[in-house]
Amino acid sequence: MAHCLVVGGTGMLRGVCVVLAEAGHRVSVVARNKERLVGLVRDTQRSPGVVNPIPVDYLNNNALHEKLSEAIAVLGPISLSVLWIHGEAGDAPGVVARLLNEQKENCQVYHVLGSTAADPTKQVGDSRPFEHLANCSYHRITLGFRTGKDGSRWLTNDEIAQGVLDAIANERHEAVVGEIEPWENRPGR
Ligand SMILES: NC(=O)c1ccc[n+]([C@@H]2O[C@H](COP(=O)([O-])OP(=O)(O)OC[C@H]3O[C@@H](n4cnc5c(N)ncnc54)[C@H](OP(=O)(O)O)[C@@H]3O)[C@@H](O)[C@H]2O)c1
Repeated sequence: MAHCLVVGGTGMLRGVCVVLAEAGHRVSVVARNKERLVGLVRDTQRSPGVVNPIPVDYLNNNALHEKLSEAIAVLGPISLSVLWIHGEAGDAPGVVARLLNEQKENCQVYHVLGSTAADPTKQVGDSRPFEHLANCSYHRITLGFRTGKDGSRWLTNDEIAQGVLDAIANERHEAVVGEIEPWENRPGR
């Protein structure tokens, strides 16, 4: 089974980690809070796969590089990565991209972007670190909102995790979870 990487996997992407472990994969999970990582390991103990907790602050690019290199050395090349990296993370996407590109094996990269990526007036969700990588296929998932008769609301963690899993299952290069148009309908307007 595959070695998967989920950066930011103890929050809204927790359900993605659980499903990947249930499918038998080795799932390396990056987050800072050790208790939440331990809880994820505990909750997947009976799965055929395994969660490999990586407690590191991705703002520390050297530490991120070191820990991911260790994980690749122990668990093998990463063939699927799901990245939820906040915008102020400096070169964290670049660190991940370079490591994946150094592998001989191909990697599917699913880059999860917050709703501001759908704002036509803003330039966010920089995919440049992942462009022109020989060994990676880049997929972009934008998180939107839901509209009902009482107005609009942001997505729940379960909706986000399911939307990301659907994008992976269907190998979508561009996916939107929920809706992003018209942008004026987003919550809080
Ligand atoms: N369109 C939408 O509807 C939408 C879009 C985005 C978010 N949301 C909602 O907003 C909630 C909060 O968003 P959130 O961004 O806090 O997402 P989150 O997924 O709940 O938490 C962020 C994840 O990234 C990790 N993380 C954060 N900073 C890190 C760092 N410097 N180094 C390593 N790991 C780091 C966190 O673990 P640690 O804190 O332990 O490091 C956690 O695993 C989400 O749960 C979601 O429901 C909704």
